[in-house]
Amino acid sequence: MVLPITLNQSLIMTNELENLFVEQVKTIHSEMDKGTSKGAAFLGWRNLPNEISAGELESILAVAGKLRKAAELVVVIGVGGSYLGAKAVQDALSPYFERKSEDPEVIYAGQNLSGTYIKQLLNYIDGKEVAVIVISKSGTTTEPAIAFRILLEYMQCRYGSSVTERIVAITDKSEGALREMAIHLGFTSFIVPDTIGGRYSVLTPVGLLPLAVAGIDIKELLAGAKDAMRAYSTADIGSNQAYEYAALRNFLLVEGYNIEILASFSPRFATFHEWWKQLFGESEGKDGKGIFPAAVAYPTDLHSLGQYVQEGQRMLFETFVQFEKTEDDCAIPFSTDNLDGLNYLSDKTMNEINEVTLRATMQAHDDGGVPLIHLTVGKHDAYHIGYLIYFFELSCTMSAYLLDVNPFDQPGVEKYKKNISKLLEKPGSVV
Ligand code: PA5
Repeated sequence: MVLPITLNQSLIMTNELENLFVEQVKTIHSEMDKGTSKGAAFLGWRNLPNEISAGELESILAVAGKLRKAAELVVVIGVGGSYLGAKAVQDALSPYFERKSEDPEVIYAGQNLSGTYIKQLLNYIDGKEVAVIVISKSGTTTEPAIAFRILLEYMQCRYGSSVTERIVAITDKSEGALREMAIHLGFTSFIVPDTIGGRYSVLTPVGLLPLAVAGIDIKELLAGAKDAMRAYSTADIGSNQAYEYAALRNFLLVEGYNIEILASFSPRFATFHEWWKQLFGESEGKDGKGIFPAAVAYPTDLHSLGQYVQEGQRMLFETFVQFEKTEDDCAIPFSTDNLDGLNYLSDKTMNEINEVTLRATMQAHDDGGVPLIHLTVGKHDAYHIGYLIYFFELSCTMSAYLLDVNPFDQPGVEKYKKNISKLLEKPGSVV
């Protein structure tokens, strides 16, 4: 049977690894089951693929259908976990250049504070039929709140009282300014479950609504996550590759490898790298602990960071994500004059050469003393991306627990948020 995801590692003996972590992983797994692990109140994502109701899915699809009908362009406002998952999956599953005519363009705002960005966005959307999805679990984060204030004013001027048909809010069920606005102004809204934090929320309305609007098959995405949930339900590290990956990372950390580089050879997977960086960085990096998550898009970065990976300080390990099947390919043409000398490649396709480049890179980095983890993913489609999301969410949680940190809080992020409020003299903030 071809597994949706396969994990291989080159330098570590599987038995040695399993023996080191087998009991610890079992204990943590049982603590998660009992709800006694750190931050256990935020483990809601764990059973989410099973628990999301047909009714909720249908209402997400119905609202997405309305927005698709009303708008040729949808602005999704959010930051961190309130935008990265949707953008990662959208980019991973959309064509590079031309979207289908029935799919609206989906663009993002509120993830930066650039006045130039918003000004140019307003110019860009003007004259197009627009809708807005605003996402903030807390409902008070500065970056999306400012972007929404500006977009809301624009939408109200343009659409008057019918603006409520074009704005959807996704936020806490009762807390925060965004919930108040949704009630007061009468927007359609969805709830971010209390039990799921921002960076684990891509399979809630936070990710599912923008993705459904963009024309992504969210049922397939959830089907992949559901199968992953079943596949990784055992506490036995020998049969659970999500736990094996978590253990491997911790093993390498103890050996002095404190930077992990996620590497792929698929340009449209690059935003997924950003989601992965947020997931691991924000979940693990606290109490002076954690592996620093970095990412490279090869072969582009072979011509930049590749030099460092090959010969720089030996404190990094690399996790390759390889998609076995991709949809389109391009053959190398035969040339009668062969001026570029490339006829030796003319029986090959570009994807075949990409795959050879991946193997050549892994071999070189192995020779350079970089421990390698190799994740092969059966196909580049919604099902496998959903599977991969669950794989990483679970392995990240286990990895953080192995470090004895709470995977679900982000006190460091809260610190800078408070400072913004202080420096901008927000009423009620302590100076
Ligand atoms: O993972 C997290 O919890 C954070 O990255 C949040 O998603 C991010 O800070 C945005 O917060 P909010 O959705 O409350 O605006």
